[in-house]
Amino acid sequence: MPGIFCETIRIRHSTRRYADRSVPDDVLAHLLEFAARASHLTDMPPRVTVVNGRERVGRILARYLGVYGLVQGAPHLLVGLIPEDSDRARLDLGYVLEQVVLEATRLGLSTCWMTGSYHPERAADEVERRPGEVVAATVALGYAREDPLARLHDGTVRRLVAAHRRRPLEEIVFAGKWGVPWSPVGADPALMEVLECARLAPSAENRQPWQFVVEGRAGDGFPALHLFLTGPAPIDAGIVMAHVALAGAEVGWDGRWALRWQDPTLARALGAPPDVVPVGTFFYSPQRHEDTKAN
Ligand SMILES: Cc1cc2nc3c(=O)[nH]c(=O)nc-3n(C[C@H](O)[C@H](O)[C@H](O)COP(=O)(O)O)c2cc1C
Repeated sequence: MPGIFCETIRIRHSTRRYADRSVPDDVLAHLLEFAARASHLTDMPPRVTVVNGRERVGRILARYLGVYGLVQGAPHLLVGLIPEDSDRARLDLGYVLEQVVLEATRLGLSTCWMTGSYHPERAADEVERRPGEVVAATVALGYAREDPLARLHDGTVRRLVAAHRRRPLEEIVFAGKWGVPWSPVGADPALMEVLECARLAPSAENRQPWQFVVEGRAGDGFPALHLFLTGPAPIDAGIVMAHVALAGAEVGWDGRWALRWQDPTLARALGAPPDVVPVGTFFYSPQRHEDTKAN
């Protein structure tokens, strides 16, 4: 039975039509506090702030990028700020902001990540920035419009970007070494649940650029999930890392990410080709819920 994180991961989807209803102030404050307290991967974590009001949000969201970018009526926009313009900072933003997206989903709110269809300079004008901070992503936030026209629009965009589609685990997971086929048949149910929650992560244009190598015993004896990207997409990497960490905690693993962004020794150790991007390793100790209950 999936727990609350995995259930939230399963129900989250991008919403592009919003109801004319604001999110209560205390809920917004909770989300910002949640963002400030969220676990992060670097020692220079991102900040999350919010722009309120349909008009202000509408000015930031671009309208000319075709149907994909058409997010309409969002009453709020979460704005992700990174302390420096680097891949590692973007990766950490993906990690932190996806935790906020899932918390918002848990509270019944709707969201849509946006890195393409908005004007970063207009967003930067609307928020207070510390010296050196850069706007690196936004997330539309509000309540989904439920009328048939809104459903039709959301359905059309989702079909165009095949938003519901995810690659099967067999295509994105290798066993022990790069290129060695992995099969879900007989796999540990906890590992299956974590990989399934990783597979469902959102990514820009639904590209799903991630690939995993699962190892029963990594260098220090613990099992590990190694993450690679098929192309440079640090925000997508951070998002899928958040899904692994949350799902891992929920299946009872004691785990943590070791960030190894573009570390060629990780690629060499696992036989990954030179064109993939090494991201990091999730080491875990599989203390299962059942074991905890038995004690
Ligand atoms: C980093 C990132 C950037 C995105 N940028 C945009 C965007 O600019 N415009 C948009 O309409 N959707 C955007 N999306 C939403 C994706 O298209 C969507 O997550 C993907 O198609 C999967 O659909 P789902 O979120 O409904 O599961 C983005 C998603 C991510 C994770």
